[in-house]
Amino acid sequence: MRTHYCGQVDEHLVDETITVTGWVHRRRDHGGVIFVDLRDREGLLQIVFNPGDDAMFADAERLRSEFVLKATGSVRQRPEGMQNPGMASGQVELVVRELEILNTSETPPFHHDEQTNEELRLTYRYLDLRKAHMMENLRLRHRVTQSMRRYLDGAGFVDVETPMLTRATPEGARDYIVPSRTHPGKFFALPQSPQIFKQLLMMSGLDRYYQIVRCFRDEDLRADRQPEFTQLDIEMSFVDEETVTGLMEGMVRRLFKEVMDIELPDPFPRMPYAEAMQRFGSDKPDLRIPLELIEVADLMDGVEFKVFAGPAADPEGRVAALRLPEGGTLSRKEIDEYTSFVGRYGARGLAYIKVNDIAAGRDGLQSPILKFLPDAAVTGILERTGAADGDIVFFGADKARVVSDALGALRERLGHDRGLVAEGWAPLWVVDFPMFERDGDSGRWHSLHHPFTAPRADSPEALAENPGAAPSRAYDMVLNGSEIGGGSIRIHDQAMQAAVFDLLDISKEEAEEKFGFLLRALQYGCPPHGGIAFGLDRMVMLMAGASSIRDVIAFPKTQSAHDPLTDAPGAVSPEQLRETGIRLRAKPGAE
Ligand code: AMO
Ligand code: AMP
Repeated sequence: MRTHYCGQVDEHLVDETITVTGWVHRRRDHGGVIFVDLRDREGLLQIVFNPGDDAMFADAERLRSEFVLKATGSVRQRPEGMQNPGMASGQVELVVRELEILNTSETPPFHHDEQTNEELRLTYRYLDLRKAHMMENLRLRHRVTQSMRRYLDGAGFVDVETPMLTRATPEGARDYIVPSRTHPGKFFALPQSPQIFKQLLMMSGLDRYYQIVRCFRDEDLRADRQPEFTQLDIEMSFVDEETVTGLMEGMVRRLFKEVMDIELPDPFPRMPYAEAMQRFGSDKPDLRIPLELIEVADLMDGVEFKVFAGPAADPEGRVAALRLPEGGTLSRKEIDEYTSFVGRYGARGLAYIKVNDIAAGRDGLQSPILKFLPDAAVTGILERTGAADGDIVFFGADKARVVSDALGALRERLGHDRGLVAEGWAPLWVVDFPMFERDGDSGRWHSLHHPFTAPRADSPEALAENPGAAPSRAYDMVLNGSEIGGGSIRIHDQAMQAAVFDLLDISKEEAEEKFGFLLRALQYGCPPHGGIAFGLDRMVMLMAGASSIRDVIAFPKTQSAHDPLTDAPGAVSPEQLRETGIRLRAKPGAE
């Protein structure tokens, strides 16, 4: 129907006759002349209707926002002073000779430039996606996956699909389940990841696998989480950590170069988990923020202030300080707001010292806890944090987990609030995770990654002896404070896999019922193998500079895992329930 995209018409086409198609973006009447900005996926073109041809002009007067047109005419230079440098086609316009209205449109419920609430945007997602930046996000995503596929194909990876109707895969979330009609009373689970299948493919000898694959996790949603999301999933045989991380950071470097013309560091820095928690209170630190947590527990030895002395004496406790340069200007109200912010992470308070005049000793300090601290502790804190006049030093004292979470989150928050986030890209590998973490309440061990991750232990016995001390062979890729990928070298030995299930309190019967097929497969010549999965949505979100992964997914769900466009999830008919052997406990909608 067309000869050119609107957004690609420029001065090279002056005096030529062309045909364009698209949507009416805006229409303006200028005393007898009608101007329309016509829009297609490549951009806008100003088209002009001069009075003369009465039938065509009458049609032009009928045009409204989002009508669909086909227009033929000749391209001309815009008159002096009428150019629009903000538009690729801003030097030219099309003088229309023939107009065909291909379709009309109802008045759209929102305009392109408007901030619209998300529910409405998602209800009319097809209109929302007409916005230039949304369209650009989808196309960026396409360029990202194309670049990944090129790189992986070049490195000998084979794209294989794995089942969507399967059994539970333990990635730590709830499963989405699907009832079976042919096996009444039984259910499939949608995969939380293709983890087990990709390991089975290594056992098959495929050697290098990848898949851009949907994963399903029924978990509490946040800005960077969706119930269905996409992974770039990867697995390789006969490799160690160095090979996997080296190849993968090469891919990400190539990706940023090809898609955004950005050079990422070579190699990416690596940081042990313990160091990340210690210095940044996070296993995904944003290295663009120049603030660090500092240990001060040893300075609190024997101090009367119980809030600090207690955790200082507790082997599982932590007392840490966070200095904010020039934070002395924070108001009481702001400090109260930060105190309730850290409260969300379990902190029971947020002690602080404002440093007004360091030379004046105690008199130069302002703090609700000063009276509880002896001189040695105060000077120790000031020296160790490097505090200077005008700074504020915050404190956290509690179980180590709480202090790290709270001050880690505060560090990021202050970084953003105070404009301390450096420009650019800060990738990082976090390595040397512990295998297991003990659940505070039940005292049970749970995997930090998933239970197929190999420990850095020589034997099942060595692992069982001190599970809390065993590091795993896992690695996470972090970019600007976001975990964009995670993986590990896997267990390829049946006895070790059984030992890990055992430590996780998975009984022999449960292990057999859930993972018997995997344990069996490990007995038939399983090669050493390992891999990784990237959160594609998160990567594209960062590259697009979007604030939610919903902005880089064509048809996402809301925070409550609902799709306002199709109104999914929906009810099913009594027949469908009967066929799958299901009876509802309560009528839908009845609480
Ligand atoms: P993991 O659970 O760490 O590892 O997931 C890999 C990456 O997927 C992204 N991600 C998500 N993105 C959006 N919404 C979600 N709900 C969501 N959950 C996770 C993150 C994360 O880094 N099978 C292992 C990988 C492996 O060991 O090879 C796995 O799934 O960016
Ligand atoms: P209180 O003695 O409870 O009035 O606390 C004195 C100061 O210590 C207040 O500024 C509290 O916000 C702070 N505070 C209390 N508990 C903690 C904690 N666990 N970690 C850090 N600061 C705390």
